[in-house]
Amino acid sequence: MKVLFYSAKVYDKKSFEPVAEEYSDVEIDYIDHELEPRTATLAKGYDAVCAFVNADVGAETLEIFAQIGVKIVLMRCAGFNNVDTDKAKELGIIVKRVPSYSPESVAELAMALALAVNRRTYKAYNKVRENDYTLTGLRGMLLHGKTAGIVGTGKIGAAMCRICRGFGMNIIAYDKYENPDLKDYVKYVSLDELLSQSDLISLHCPLMDSTYHMINIESIKKMKDGVILINTSRGALIDTDELIEGIRMNKFFGVGLDVYEEEAGNLYVDHSDDIMAHSVTARLLSFPNVMITSHQGFYTVEALKAIADTTLQNLIDAKEGKTTPNDVA
Ligand code: NAI
Repeated sequence: MKVLFYSAKVYDKKSFEPVAEEYSDVEIDYIDHELEPRTATLAKGYDAVCAFVNADVGAETLEIFAQIGVKIVLMRCAGFNNVDTDKAKELGIIVKRVPSYSPESVAELAMALALAVNRRTYKAYNKVRENDYTLTGLRGMLLHGKTAGIVGTGKIGAAMCRICRGFGMNIIAYDKYENPDLKDYVKYVSLDELLSQSDLISLHCPLMDSTYHMINIESIKKMKDGVILINTSRGALIDTDELIEGIRMNKFFGVGLDVYEEEAGNLYVDHSDDIMAHSVTARLLSFPNVMITSHQGFYTVEALKAIADTTLQNLIDAKEGKTTPNDVA
């Protein structure tokens, strides 16, 4: 089985190569190019392709795959909003994904961001390196005994609830469905109640039409003054311009973002020597209480290994014609 692996990063090769060695009949070629209609023809002669979150697996790409005989698309991620599943089904192309891989990896980053913006560790690190041992700008607040509001209590949100419990926080949550595993220590409330009662708000619901810009100036106004807001889910859950307005209103003690609306052009590129024509990211970073990471919630040894294991198992299942819960088409 020959697989063309699009937008391959060094870390992809490091995590996939040892797993691929366990499959004697699997051969993977790694290329830098992103998957899109322009690059789809590169997969001629391959049985399958492997793609990531920003690939364009729309109708045009899938039509090209059908013409050149590519029968399997392996998404090495959970999301598949970039896949035209109806078209794939129509063309008989199998698409599989990795629905879950180490939810604790993302939840731990959410708490890491909360702690960093609370205790300003990013600032402390630089100050001490500069021989500045003053405490100016570093005062934090206690999380113990405060209220954590978790929006979305699926796999990652539930892991975040467990972490907040370990910190001695009271936990309230908002979700359309209550997670029975959390019933002993999480109280479900309406979104408005969550916004008005929480000292720490962490977003863990998916991006859908109904959740697009769920954090906007109206919802920000409902929050407590001095709240910490964390987003490790999807950038467009938050209206960035209105978030900036909220930051300017001094609403937030801190804001930690692993995802943000403008990230697509940044992931995973070194722009350090570029003059950016327009950058909301730069505007956000100008605030002392904001910390941004580059969509790295999934980036742990364990999560990468789980992604590689499941992706290659998906390939074998697809080859053997097995339908599994990982199928999206
Ligand atoms: P999940 O499917 O296990 O849980 C999502 C939860 O959100 C479900 O309980 C669902 O009922 C709830 N939900 C749906 N609509 C809602 C609404 N309108 N309001 C409140 N809750 C709602 O998903 P999982 O695995 O916990 O992932 C959550 C999100 O984390 C993903 O959608 C993805 O966007 C993000 N993610 C981020 C990563 C990163 O590297 N930063 C890596 C992996 C996922």
